[in-house]
Amino acid sequence: MEKVTLGPMPYMSVMPTVLVGANVSGKPNYMTAAWATVACMAPPMVCVALNKSRHTLKGIIENGTFSLSIPSENHVVATDHCGLVSGNQTDKSKVFSSFYGKLKTAPMAGECPVAIECRLFQTVDCGSHLLVVGEVVEIHADRSCVTDGKPDNTKIRPIIYSQAAYFACGKEIAKAFSAGKKYPGT
Ligand SMILES: Cc1cc2nc3c(=O)[nH]c(=O)nc-3n(C[C@H](O)[C@H](O)[C@H](O)COP(=O)(O)O)c2cc1C
Repeated sequence: MEKVTLGPMPYMSVMPTVLVGANVSGKPNYMTAAWATVACMAPPMVCVALNKSRHTLKGIIENGTFSLSIPSENHVVATDHCGLVSGNQTDKSKVFSSFYGKLKTAPMAGECPVAIECRLFQTVDCGSHLLVVGEVVEIHADRSCVTDGKPDNTKIRPIIYSQAAYFACGKEIAKAFSAGKKYPGT
């Protein structure tokens, strides 16, 4: 296969779309983020890369807590709005109805089917962005979006981000940790 080089860029094929929630000076603020993923299994940790200018980041540092709420397809307009305007200039505290969990200071978006409540573990200064790593203290999920005790993507209908566009989650094509067992010679 002939390859072309595209130059270094912060590329990843597909990413989740999440809302990073933090209390900034006591007021909930939500910002859209796509540069988020799992960081560790034990203890459970997630991470998100935040530009140092983000209003949300101030709240994360201030409280040592934050959340990642997972919006559903029907929240795409409100979600994009939270990525277009900054809490520095626009009050985003009412875009979603906030609720709080164990940590008391990490606002989570009530309309989102799942929210990950985090205690700040560490930040890694990567340059323009800080990689914010959080220990997961609780997962809050709508009962209607849980199957066999686990968040169910067919019910959550999360938003995938790729190349400046939003996509719906596609259909399952195989079982992970299983499909490979059919590899020839295994
Ligand atoms: C789809 C999408 C994904 C984004 N992902 C990130 C991200 O991963 N990290 C980041 O720092 N900003 C990201 N942004 C930009 C912030 O959401 C945006 O600058 C927002 O206004 C910051 O809000 P705040 O200043 O209230 O924190 C993204 C925006 C959009 C629309």
